[in-house]
Amino acid sequence: MALIVLAADKGAPGVTTAATALGAVWPRPVLLAECDPAGGDLAYRLPAQDGGVLNPSKGLLTLGAVARKGLRPDQIHEHTQKIIGGLDVLAGLTHGEQAAGLTWLWGPLGRALAALPDADVLADCGRLGGHPQLNDLIAEAELVVLFTRASLDHVAHLRERLVSFGGGPKLGVVVIADPRQYRASIDDVRRIVAATGTQVAFVGGVAHDPKGAELLRGQWGGRLDRSLLIRTCRELAGRLAAQVGSAQPAHERGVRS
Ligand SMILES: Nc1ncnc2c1ncn2[C@@H]1O[C@H](COP(=O)(O)OP(=O)(O)OP(=O)(O)O)[C@@H](O)[C@H]1O
Ligand SMILES: [Mg+2]
Repeated sequence: MALIVLAADKGAPGVTTAATALGAVWPRPVLLAECDPAGGDLAYRLPAQDGGVLNPSKGLLTLGAVARKGLRPDQIHEHTQKIIGGLDVLAGLTHGEQAAGLTWLWGPLGRALAALPDADVLADCGRLGGHPQLNDLIAEAELVVLFTRASLDHVAHLRERLVSFGGGPKLGVVVIADPRQYRASIDDVRRIVAATGTQVAFVGGVAHDPKGAELLRGQWGGRLDRSLLIRTCRELAGRLAAQVGSAQPAHERGVRS
C-alpha cells in the first residue's frame, strides 16, 4: 500500500506525537515505522499491547542485522511489535550513532515499506538534513508530510526545505497550531508556502494540545479520544489517506474512529 513520510526541518514540532496519533486513528491497516536516524522514541513512550514494555532492540536494529543481503516486504513483520491499541510499530534505532553503520539500509527499507501489501506505512523520519542517505527512503514515498509550528523561525526553515524538494514526491504541510488561532495559523502558513511556488498538495493542521499529548503517552481511551489532538489527527488522517489511495472502512485501534 502507500508509504507516507512524516518529517520536519528544524526544531521538534511534534512529528512523533502526530505520527502516533495518526496511527491510532488511521482509516486503513497501518504500520508506524520509526525511521528517524537520530533514534526512536516509541519504545520508551508507549506500553506494549499486553501492558508490558516494548523491546527497544527489536525493530530497525534486528532488521538491519538480517537485511544486508536484501530485504523483502514479507520480512518486515518479523521485526514489528504491537503497542497499546494494537497498532503495529517498527521500533527505531536506540541511539543516533547506530545510523552511521546503517547508511545502506534506508533505500532497501524504503522499497520494502512501499511494497507492503497489507498496510499503509507512516514513516517518522525525524528532522531532515543530517543524513543524506535517508533520501533513498524518502524517494520511495508516495507522499511526504512536513510538520512545522506556526512561528516565524519554524516556517522560515520549512520554506527552505520545501524549495529543496522541487520536483520530488508529492508534498503536504501540517502546522501544529494553537487552537485559539487554529485556522488563522494554518492560513498564514498556507500563504507562505504558496509564495514559494512549490507544488504542495495541501496544508493541514494538528492542534497544539499538551493535555492530549500527555494522554497519548498513557492509557488510551475516552478522554484521549475526545482530545483536540486526536480530533484534529482524525481529520488529518482522513485527508492524508485520501491523498494516497481509496478509503476503506475505519480500522479500530483502541481510539475510536
Ligand atoms: N500537538 C502537540 N501538542 C502539544 N504538545 C506536543 C504536540 N506534539 C508534540 N508535543 C510535545 O512536544 C515535544 C516534542 O514532541 P515530539 O517528540 O513528538 O516531537 P518531534 O518533532 O518528533 O521531535 P524530535 O525531532 O526530537 O524527534 C514533546 O514534549 C511532546 O509532548
Ligand atoms: Mg520524533
